[in-house]
Amino acid sequence: MGSAAALASSRMILMRAAFFALCALVVSPALAQAKHGGVTRHYKFDIKMQNMTRLCQTKSIVTVNGQLPGPRIIAREGDRLLIEVVNNVQYNVTIHWHGVRQLRSGWADGPAYITQCPIQTGQAYVYNFTVTGQRGTLFWHAHISWLRATLYGPIVILPKKHASYPFPQPFKEVPIVFGEWWKADTETIINQALKTGGAPNVSDAFTINGFPGPLSNCSTKDTFKLKVKPGKTYLLRLINAALNDELFFSIANHTLTIVETDAIYVKPFKTHTVLITPGQTTNVLLRTKLKAPNVTFVMAARPYATGPGAFDNTTVTGLLEYAKPSSPSKPKASKLPTLKATLPKFNDTAFAMKFVQKLRSLNTAQFPTKVPQTVDKNFFFTVGLGLNPCPQNQTCQGPNNSMLAASINNVSFVMPSTALLQAHFFKQSNGVFTTDFPTKPPSKFNYTGTPPNNSMVNSGTKVVILPFNTTVELVMQDTSIIGAESHPLHLHGFNFFVVGQGFGNFKPKRDPKNFNLVDPVERNTVGVPSGGWVAIRFVADNPGVWFMHCHLEVHTSWGLKMAWVVMDGKGRKQKLPPPPADLPKC
Ligand code: C2O
Ligand code: CU
Repeated sequence: MGSAAALASSRMILMRAAFFALCALVVSPALAQAKHGGVTRHYKFDIKMQNMTRLCQTKSIVTVNGQLPGPRIIAREGDRLLIEVVNNVQYNVTIHWHGVRQLRSGWADGPAYITQCPIQTGQAYVYNFTVTGQRGTLFWHAHISWLRATLYGPIVILPKKHASYPFPQPFKEVPIVFGEWWKADTETIINQALKTGGAPNVSDAFTINGFPGPLSNCSTKDTFKLKVKPGKTYLLRLINAALNDELFFSIANHTLTIVETDAIYVKPFKTHTVLITPGQTTNVLLRTKLKAPNVTFVMAARPYATGPGAFDNTTVTGLLEYAKPSSPSKPKASKLPTLKATLPKFNDTAFAMKFVQKLRSLNTAQFPTKVPQTVDKNFFFTVGLGLNPCPQNQTCQGPNNSMLAASINNVSFVMPSTALLQAHFFKQSNGVFTTDFPTKPPSKFNYTGTPPNNSMVNSGTKVVILPFNTTVELVMQDTSIIGAESHPLHLHGFNFFVVGQGFGNFKPKRDPKNFNLVDPVERNTVGVPSGGWVAIRFVADNPGVWFMHCHLEVHTSWGLKMAWVVMDGKGRKQKLPPPPADLPKC
């Protein structure tokens, strides 16, 4: 072994030791901890290609450490995370810690060309942030082009030491990560689509923890199995890491109790089916039956789809198997009959609306709902699809030889070639972005009725400037241009309160009277109802540049995105510190 290799392998051993020490920390309360606040946890993400076989086909995919889903990040509320990302693939890469508030640590947020230039091949960047005031399930994913198709994994934030959950302590906790599997190369798919202006292809299967399950070709062995004991409570940490599909999820003959969404506790409620959009996370309690039944239960997920385009209409299934006290005469779980799960139909918007209206924040003395009662600035954003003209001497595959696009207030966001946060911090925004993002759409029309004749969008890299601590109310209105569709809008750097939602056009005189300013759900991603609107409130108490976009990756690619620039406050702890020395260069 060469000395460099020897060094590397001894480093590996050291790292492994560090990793096991970390795992021990999670389970053993006896280990040392800093007197105040949390500990620092180190992770290493090696971005590398890995061969994987799914649906009878082997392909090389981009992974973290060769895993799909990628490694689980575990921390306690208050801990600091140092995650070294080393890029060993041919693509530019960034990683986003979806839902982490990133208080004054915007340099670690991760969206490419918004808070950082991408990590280039052979380069590394250490994401450095502290998890403050959050506990529950979040996830991390790549935030450049469509690389998050395979670069994603769970973030588990445990309550502080000696703090307990506001629900029965589960016997076991299990991440359930939904993804999409594509036979073709996703980078080729989106690059082609953006060139021709047509809609990109859809995925070939959905996955649970990387497995498509027995309904897909060659996938009987590639099935996620949850082995449970009777009479116990399991905490399932549901994560929708799919690129382009909202999902319904259900387990045959079991009810689920929803206890947390987007790392915020909610008032528990029972349901047979969960709706989860890309970008959302949901913790549910599964209470197993008192006696192990002679049945295997199917868990299944398939899309909630409302848009005009094609979608992957397959179903992913996994199995819930009860452990038996071993007895040779009894059949093995795999030989037991299976009970199927039932799911709403693909376009069941009535179910979707009923479901989201049940979500309420916990609002107890320990976990109060700090929804702003007054508003400094109101915004009204239309969100939806639109068109761009076909470049001259080219034929395009969008409607009537046009190119498909998407916009907010008719602005289709153009990605800059340098990071907005750097441009803002160093006061070099000239030629990078403008501060004239419109507070309302350029013209009034019947947003959810017959669309106007002209569906063309405008383009630009426009932002909204917010003074520190501004209280914002934002109404997001779906449009029926091209077609009404549910859009899961995600805001970086903040949680917001969902104070109202409804179908049709938002009525500024009538609808605010019905806003919930008592116990609205607090989250980081919310579905703008198909053919409807949603109203959110948040306090701009985190200086930096914060991306907001549809979490259907295809819509983001078409321009359904914008950014908020939150200025520094006067106080010492209200300013964004300078960037770390290893921040990647463009
Ligand atoms: Cu989960 Cu900007 O994304
Ligand atoms: Cu969308």
